[in-house]
Amino acid sequence: MLDPNAPILVEAKGVELELPDMNAARAFGRRPLTRILHPVTLSIRRGEIVGIVGESGSGKSSLGRLLLRLHEPTAGRLAFDGVDITHASQDTLRPMRRRMQMIFQDPQSSLNPRRRIRSIVAAGLTLDAGQRAEIRDGELVRLMVAVGLDPALLDRFPHELSGGQRQRVGIARAIATRPDFVLADEIVSGLDVSTQAQVLALLRRLAGELQLALAFISHDLSVIRNLCHRVVVMRAGRIVEEGSCAALFDNPKADYTRRLLDAIPPLVPDPNWLGRPPPGAAEAAQAAG
Ligand SMILES: Nc1ncnc2c1ncn2[C@@H]1O[C@H](COP(=O)(O)OP(=O)(O)O)[C@@H](O)[C@H]1O
Ligand SMILES: [Mg+2]
Repeated sequence: MLDPNAPILVEAKGVELELPDMNAARAFGRRPLTRILHPVTLSIRRGEIVGIVGESGSGKSSLGRLLLRLHEPTAGRLAFDGVDITHASQDTLRPMRRRMQMIFQDPQSSLNPRRRIRSIVAAGLTLDAGQRAEIRDGELVRLMVAVGLDPALLDRFPHELSGGQRQRVGIARAIATRPDFVLADEIVSGLDVSTQAQVLALLRRLAGELQLALAFISHDLSVIRNLCHRVVVMRAGRIVEEGSCAALFDNPKADYTRRLLDAIPPLVPDPNWLGRPPPGAAEAAQAAG
């Protein structure tokens, strides 16, 4: 259960983002700026999973990167665990970095193919200078078990693992630094449906155990349904709808959200099956007049 009084870890108030327009020609040596995010306000509590959904190009990844302060807001205010980091310097951000982690979309390209799983996952651990090898190895085994992988895989290379296993390695690497805030950007998009379900179940369990503030980005509302406490719907750089997961699925307000919901394939062959009146109900209603 989500504690409604849990402290807010990530807080964006009216953040805007402009970036150099990569499609425009340079003028006076610079590219003109293009608006990526209109004022966006969003907060995430400790232990809370917030889904960020929207069609491709709606600004989900840009918002995620901004929450991690990989982008600097053009306007508005951004705070992490009560500290204003809107315009924080790299020196100020460095000690906070290990507390905010990202799980990438495509572990095939985000895991260095020439490094063994051991050194990939340990990248998060080596931030602790002077850690002794046996302590580090124990920690690596603990992390592998935590994400449901055989510790024997530590000595393998990424290409020797399945897509689902690689995504678990990505999760192990992210939680190695004991983060408070994790951003997962389309992390199950490349996986088949049953592997998706397993990775999502793992993520939900870990988010609860570690009391993470988790921002989960997806263009697919169906993967959000069983994972998130709250959902924000993005379109063209704005949040167009926000609500609890249950409210959003039961009663979407924006037409756009309804269209995203309509794009979800039905889970059962006949979606009206549960709503069908029990046998004899029609006769009973007739008899009652
Ligand atoms: N670094 C960048 N420079 C310029 N434009 C960008 C940059 N990153 C994203 N954009 C633009 O911002 C918009 C939102 O992109 P993005 O945040 O990646 O959306 P999403 O993750 O929802 O698909 C798109 O129009 C994209 O072309
Ligand atoms: Mg994206």
